[in-house]
Amino acid sequence: MIILRRIPGTRAFVTGAQRDGHTVGLVPTMGALHAGHGALMDCARAACGRVVVTIFVNPIQFDRREDYEAYQVNLDRDFAFCEQRGVDAVFAPPVEEMYPEPARTFVEVSGVSQGLCGEFRPGHFRGVATVVSKLFHILPADRAYFGEKDAQQLAVIQRMVRDLDFPIEIVPVPTMREADGLAMSSRNQRLSPEERAAAPLLYTALCRAAVVARDSQDPAAARQAALEELARDPRFRAEYVEVVDPLTMEPLPRITGPACIAAAAWLGRTRLIDNVRLPAVAASQHSPVGEG
Ligand code: PAF
Repeated sequence: MIILRRIPGTRAFVTGAQRDGHTVGLVPTMGALHAGHGALMDCARAACGRVVVTIFVNPIQFDRREDYEAYQVNLDRDFAFCEQRGVDAVFAPPVEEMYPEPARTFVEVSGVSQGLCGEFRPGHFRGVATVVSKLFHILPADRAYFGEKDAQQLAVIQRMVRDLDFPIEIVPVPTMREADGLAMSSRNQRLSPEERAAAPLLYTALCRAAVVARDSQDPAAARQAALEELARDPRFRAEYVEVVDPLTMEPLPRITGPACIAAAAWLGRTRLIDNVRLPAVAASQHSPVGEG
């Protein structure tokens, strides 16, 4: 496995692999890798001749400076993780390589970036869209893999790729869950043991909302069901629960086709997000954790 730190060598690696006839799959991450990232790498590995992972903690997508400073990445551990997953190269640039000067050009995906997390994390999706578009230029891969757990991020990137004609296929990968249903996330490691035990309630609330949504087609009833479930544990503070179109992230007045029920909630000092999709969530009626 090759470790790349600079932009020219990274671009040469990708274009060289393509000249040699390989399809290149890209897995953008901010490190702190876990099995959810592993699933993205496995999907890329199964479909592409060469797999490149990026590890870059992108300062411009943090709406709170202290979150950026507290973000823990152990590069040696993450490199070993990638190597075990059969990754061919990791691009882990220093911050000066990506932003030699403060950024003055930004990519803003309007509409899709508004509401949900966009409302509570000003500038976050502008930072994500900007760094992902930089990564797509630096690594002109054939496919890029993103988790469905970050539903709004996925929708923002899909829209950006369509609007700006990036020649790359975006491949969504279903959410990986712990055995108790909690969606895998780097943030889970910030939970105390008591909070970790309580955390699956977010997914339980979403599954409950999904059942109500299926029976009633009524987003307000589904939303209410999730909020009631979350209110059972006073340590949870719901930020939002919304039933939205999975592509536009616009709230649905009625559930007649594909829908995404998305939620964010604080548990102590940790902000958790999760979502379930309809009708794909049908499986969860039989197994509450079967969707990942
Ligand atoms: O999902 C993430 O890890 C980040 O938002 C991403 C897509 C790598 C951009 O920094």
